[in-house]
Amino acid sequence: MIDSKEYIKQHVRTVPDWPQAGIQFRDITPLLQDPKVFRALIDIFLARYANANLNYVAGLDARGFILGSVIAYELNLGFVPIRKKGKLPFHTISEEYDLEYGSATVEVHTDACKQGDRVLLVDDLIATGGTMLAGKKLLERLGAEVIEAAVIVDLPELGGSKLIEQSGLKVFTVCD
Ligand code: PRP
Ligand code: ADE
Repeated sequence: MIDSKEYIKQHVRTVPDWPQAGIQFRDITPLLQDPKVFRALIDIFLARYANANLNYVAGLDARGFILGSVIAYELNLGFVPIRKKGKLPFHTISEEYDLEYGSATVEVHTDACKQGDRVLLVDDLIATGGTMLAGKKLLERLGAEVIEAAVIVDLPELGGSKLIEQSGLKVFTVCD
């Protein structure tokens, strides 16, 4: 029987030269499309965080929303969206960061979580780590404790997961 992590890895497609020349884009849509693989993936996160005593799951725009909201629902927790600039309607705080292919700003509502909340931060992938670190900073500015950064894929050659761990946040990756 095939190992579920290997099965998941086989469903992440690499698209060369997208969104620009030289980028090997890791596309998770084949994984989401297959219900058995999608469930196997979510089950890995559920097993890891079922007893983590969390208050919220936070997801990074946009693919962190797909994973994070399902994990939050299954763990009976609230979901916190960390959105790209200009999308959230209420009072927000912002963090700017650099990406493998440009720069961006993410925002969170000021009442999304509070002092002492234990939050799991979820995205599909870590490349330079800029997105995850910006999310961590936002949640910490609200007083929350980010207990782990959970992703499907890490691109270790870009150094992001190392930077995140150096900042004091543990990283959990499904496909090593
Ligand atoms: C991708 C990916 C992560 C981020 C990782 O999103 O889904 O959020 O890049 O890169 P980093 O580790 O270098 O920060 P992207 O910013 O392309 O946005 P999208 O989800 O809106 O496509
Ligand atoms: N975000 C930054 N780099 C990426 C990559 N290579 N594939 C998918 N998402 C990314």
